[in-house]
Amino acid sequence: MLTFYKYLRTQVLSVCNIEEVYMTKVICLLNQKGGVGKTTISFNLAHGLAQLGLKVLVIDNDGQANLTGSFLAEGEKPKCYTSSMYRGSISNPQEVGPNIWLVAGDDDLDSVQFMPEGPDVFAQIVEKIIAENIFDYIVIDSNPQITNLTLAGIMASDYLIVPLQPSKYGLDGLRKLFLKVKEMRSTEASHASLLGFVMNKVKPTRLHRTTIQKLRKMYPQYIFETVIHELTAYEESPLDQKSIFDYEPSSRAALDMSAFVREVIRKIGSE
Ligand SMILES: Nc1ncnc2c1ncn2[C@@H]1O[C@H](COP(=O)(O)OP(=O)(O)O)[C@@H](O)[C@H]1O
Ligand SMILES: [Mg+2]
Repeated sequence: MLTFYKYLRTQVLSVCNIEEVYMTKVICLLNQKGGVGKTTISFNLAHGLAQLGLKVLVIDNDGQANLTGSFLAEGEKPKCYTSSMYRGSISNPQEVGPNIWLVAGDDDLDSVQFMPEGPDVFAQIVEKIIAENIFDYIVIDSNPQITNLTLAGIMASDYLIVPLQPSKYGLDGLRKLFLKVKEMRSTEASHASLLGFVMNKVKPTRLHRTTIQKLRKMYPQYIFETVIHELTAYEESPLDQKSIFDYEPSSRAALDMSAFVREVIRKIGSE
């Protein structure tokens, strides 16, 4: 299927006498804390972009493989693994929905993360995928903690999105992550820019409102306008392998996520 798209695109470009321009944008969702919404947002962001007709490759870069479990039903075997990318190879990504392809996570990622050259090799494979010019977006879901897997995701990405919970401690630990990104940028190991912090699991409480206001004052350009509320549909929908848009199309949750997807596209467009 992928080869067909590639063929078609090459034909169209050559008939129109247009040179190939690599337009794939790579977004990495990261935060060294677990449970903040990296996987939930990766899953729904990918679906939201795909529903707009954009071709999206999703890379599950976490050995827990929760993102893979959101796409594939229990017992359904993945066809292509992220751990292979660390070993320098990749087979055709698996089509998991209209306009969405998946490279699956598995516990082999826990061993490849100790390969010192792993992040470079992973980033080179992402470069190869970009050069094929098939996808509009690549969305990478990260592991918690800062390991070689996280560094690989940062190296391969153009944009970083950090989900946060609106608590006094939401930003704790992020200093270490951002020092790492800064160091990688200074040695040109990364060219990624911070697209923003997205507030997730937001409740309609005074505490959350004031915390978000404070964060907006501290980091005016970095907090997404859209906030994602705490709603059980986000927990339920992946159990049926459904995005929030298919699970509860006109719900508050779907509205939040749709606003977030549009804001991501807008922010990237204005970079
Ligand atoms: N906005 C939300 N509302 C309700 N539950 C959420 C929301 N975002 C995430 N969750 C739930 O919180 C848990 C952790 O989210 P997850 O996306 O797995 O975090 P991470 O990938 O950062 O570890 C999951 O059970 C998920 O369903
Ligand atoms: Mg996760």
